[in-house]
Amino acid sequence: MKINDRLKLIGDLVKANSFCLDIGCDHALLDIYLVKKNKNIKAIASDVAEGPLEIAKKNIKRERLEGKIETRLGDGLDTYSDEVDTVIISGMGGRNMIGIMKNHLELLSKIDTFILSPNNYQEDVKRFLCSRGFYISDERLVREKKYIYQIIVFEKGKKKYNNLDYFFGPILRKNKDKLFLEYFTREMVSREILIKMLPKGYFFKKLKTKKEIKNIKEELKDVK
Ligand SMILES: C[S@@+](CC[C@H](N)C(=O)[O-])C[C@H]1O[C@@H](n2cnc3c(N)ncnc32)[C@H](O)[C@@H]1O
Repeated sequence: MKINDRLKLIGDLVKANSFCLDIGCDHALLDIYLVKKNKNIKAIASDVAEGPLEIAKKNIKRERLEGKIETRLGDGLDTYSDEVDTVIISGMGGRNMIGIMKNHLELLSKIDTFILSPNNYQEDVKRFLCSRGFYISDERLVREKKYIYQIIVFEKGKKKYNNLDYFFGPILRKNKDKLFLEYFTREMVSREILIKMLPKGYFFKKLKTKKEIKNIKEELKDVK
């Protein structure tokens, strides 16, 4: 089955022998890729919506992978089970992801690895998990069609981060490749547009956005 570069990269970041819970699996393309690539990976493909999960079931059956991928209908971490060590959530908003984790704070200590690819509010997601016993062990940018996505891997442990680390990503800002330059140039342009459109009275939002633009300019200064 065909898989896009974003899902493939997420799959490639999963450790051998993992037991994954893929929340918001849609058609289970990631899970199928994962278990085909690595014999020792098992997965629960879960989704809150019946329609996508029905298609996921058909895809899994067609590939004869029912013994390796279980499907579960449910909201977020409601579909967690004790064998799971790695939780993957991708292709949804960061606030939705934080909501999913907040709904089951008691499970966070049982999970070794989170692989998250939020469409927005990435900084909030990083702050949330890093204040709850996780650190960022890997970070990637990947292009899919006209968008660039962040993929962030969290593992149990503690590391100190400053505000710029949370904003740019502590590992991304160490590597600073061409995609980093393109991603944050786009972030800067969208903020410049926002500032022009903000109605009067949004004083603090304007101030924060201006500061972010300044930080981006500073951060990109030495990228070749
Ligand atoms: C845009 S698709 C992303 C599919 C795939 N994960 C990807 O990255 O391409 C988002 C999926 O998340 C599901 N979803 C949204 N909120 C959810 C939640 N709270 N719990 C489980 N699934 C959820 C939706 O039903 C949908 O199938």
